[in-house]
Amino acid sequence: MRLCINIDHVATLRQARGENEPDPVTAAMICELAGADGIVCHLREDRRHVSDRDVRLLREMLKTKLDLEMSTNEEIVKIACEIGPELATLVPEKRQELTTEGGLDVISNYKKVKETIQELHRHEIEVSLFIDPIPDQIQAASDVGTDLIEIHTGDYANAVSEEEAIEELERIRQAAKLGKKLNLGVNAGHGLNYSNIIPFKQITDIDEVSIGHAIIAKAIFVGLENAVREMLRLIRSY
Ligand code: PXP
Repeated sequence: MRLCINIDHVATLRQARGENEPDPVTAAMICELAGADGIVCHLREDRRHVSDRDVRLLREMLKTKLDLEMSTNEEIVKIACEIGPELATLVPEKRQELTTEGGLDVISNYKKVKETIQELHRHEIEVSLFIDPIPDQIQAASDVGTDLIEIHTGDYANAVSEEEAIEELERIRQAAKLGKKLNLGVNAGHGLNYSNIIPFKQITDIDEVSIGHAIIAKAIFVGLENAVREMLRLIRSY
């Protein structure tokens, strides 16, 4: 299982002062040096954290890969096509939300999602769809021509009992299995942390996890390099 790190929170801290620091691009470099397999950032329509400058610099400087989270908004798609990240992950986006709250409804937005994937493919950008672990959504994701899916793990992360966590884990396991059966790459993320990653990493059909909050939060106390290394140690130990 590969680890990609979402650096949005570093940009959020920078924006709190409207100044230049901390720089999410520097954070990305440290994550790479610590062994991360890629960097994720979300260029939001309201630019509340990551900026166009960040995405351009990340694209130039990263040695691993850039996964750009984005909506299907035309302006954002145009920027993605110009910058050319290795991967674009389409997510639903609401102005009021604190973070992405759920998976993309591929079934209800079939045409728009399909057109966006085609446009990104024209620019040789691989596409992933962030979706809930629901078989019909996974089938729709495959039908619409995505290369990968990212399974939303929020319900697993928010489970209030062990039984619920086990149930959610099983839903994710089945979803990952279906994704593989449909020949899709299978990523996962949202709310994963240093505890819930332990049972989670047993799901062998998941190629990559995307983790932000838990790693950046820990980094405040132990430093970013240590926080990344600790997560890598957990993911890679058997
Ligand atoms: N994957 C997607 C699609 C997300 O929107 C986010 C949150 O920005 C993450 C993964 C990472 O979630 P977290 O910050 O809870 O680790």
